[in-house]
Amino acid sequence: MYQDFVLKGAICYSKTKDTLRFLEQGFLVCIAGKSAGVFPDLPDRYRHLPVADYTGKLIIPGLVDLHIHASQFTLRSLGMDLELLDWLTTWVFPEETKYQDAAYSLKTYTSLVEDLKRGPNTRACLFATVHVPGTLLLMDLLEASGLVCMVGKVNMDRNCPDGLREKDAETSATATREWLEQCGSYRNTAPILTPRFIPSCTDDLMRRLAAIRRQYRLPLQSHLSENQREINWVRELCPQSACYGDAYARFGMFGDEAPVIMAHCVWSEDREVELLAKQKVYVAHCPQSNTNISSGAAPVRRYLEAGIPVGLGSDVAGGAHTSIFRAMTDAIQVSKLRRILTGHNDAPLSLEEAFYLGTKGGGAFFGAAGSFEAGYEFDALVIDDGDLAPPFTLSPRNRLERIVYLSDDRHISAKYVRGVSIF
Ligand code: GUN
Ligand code: FE
Repeated sequence: MYQDFVLKGAICYSKTKDTLRFLEQGFLVCIAGKSAGVFPDLPDRYRHLPVADYTGKLIIPGLVDLHIHASQFTLRSLGMDLELLDWLTTWVFPEETKYQDAAYSLKTYTSLVEDLKRGPNTRACLFATVHVPGTLLLMDLLEASGLVCMVGKVNMDRNCPDGLREKDAETSATATREWLEQCGSYRNTAPILTPRFIPSCTDDLMRRLAAIRRQYRLPLQSHLSENQREINWVRELCPQSACYGDAYARFGMFGDEAPVIMAHCVWSEDREVELLAKQKVYVAHCPQSNTNISSGAAPVRRYLEAGIPVGLGSDVAGGAHTSIFRAMTDAIQVSKLRRILTGHNDAPLSLEEAFYLGTKGGGAFFGAAGSFEAGYEFDALVIDDGDLAPPFTLSPRNRLERIVYLSDDRHISAKYVRGVSIF
């Protein structure tokens, strides 16, 4: 089933969050869909393999989007003068209601998947909507694309319009089980449990979803501490909880069964940071969304120092761009503004750190993904940055910096996921 091969060219990937490895000319070997390592000279044992010669181009790991709303692709750039709760009511909930319609779902999910296929991301964790047929359709389209994705049927049984709200906790939990039973046979697409956030889910629903999580050992994604009004609302809804994150923990959403992503964490208080670190919860940092809908600037440096696993999210449509190159740039820029405007003296994120977050950091949620070390799943981009080159010599690091800030989909010459050529 697998075709083994070698890519030749300049190669760059993260070793740690602070260190990049560069080879100006090297060989990246793919065996059975995994990296067998990066070599300055091709070892004899691989000399029989076909070599794709990308001399002059830069080969890097595929990028990972830990948080995107597939059903909001149509909303990119719209309603950005509002803050979270008003934006959800005015734009998001009416739009998501349309996904009960099969033709609408097919049309919009197809354009999203085409965009993702063309772009630099090779893996993503996506929110669909509450609708089971639409969620399965999205999973079918993503599976056909060759990308590796986790997709969530969203749960919501309160605080949204009648056309979107699931009738009650039992109805929502039953629909979730039906969905899970129908998504068993994909190669690259897997389900992820997706309670939208505390305000959308009754206590009864959260407890039922925790039971499903344990039973199926399912990963989970949701939102946490994004916006001040949202946090105050959760305090009213869960008065017994010590903090917003503690509400998820009390319902049984954190813990060892399977990994968890919490998107945003812009305003997490000390005890929430401790809880996230203790439970090894992934933070999906979504800097563009946090700027667009005025949520704030997340303390990413603090999370890294606390040992919390962090990746990047586009959060389309809070964010307007699917590319995680753009999220890397935004993460660096927002970290600088945070430092200047808040008086917190956290060092801004470096290029090395931002690249790590968008590759190996987020990739860890999928297992061994986002790097080229031996044993990692073989997700690779070949970037033709010839037209980005200035009339003077760039160091390898500056070359990568230019690609992160300036490249777009047209610069991607080839894309591989799990050792399979996407184009
Ligand atoms: N919190 C709950 N739902 C959403 C959503 O759709 N987008 C964002 N940014 N935050 C949310
Ligand atoms: Fe979101």
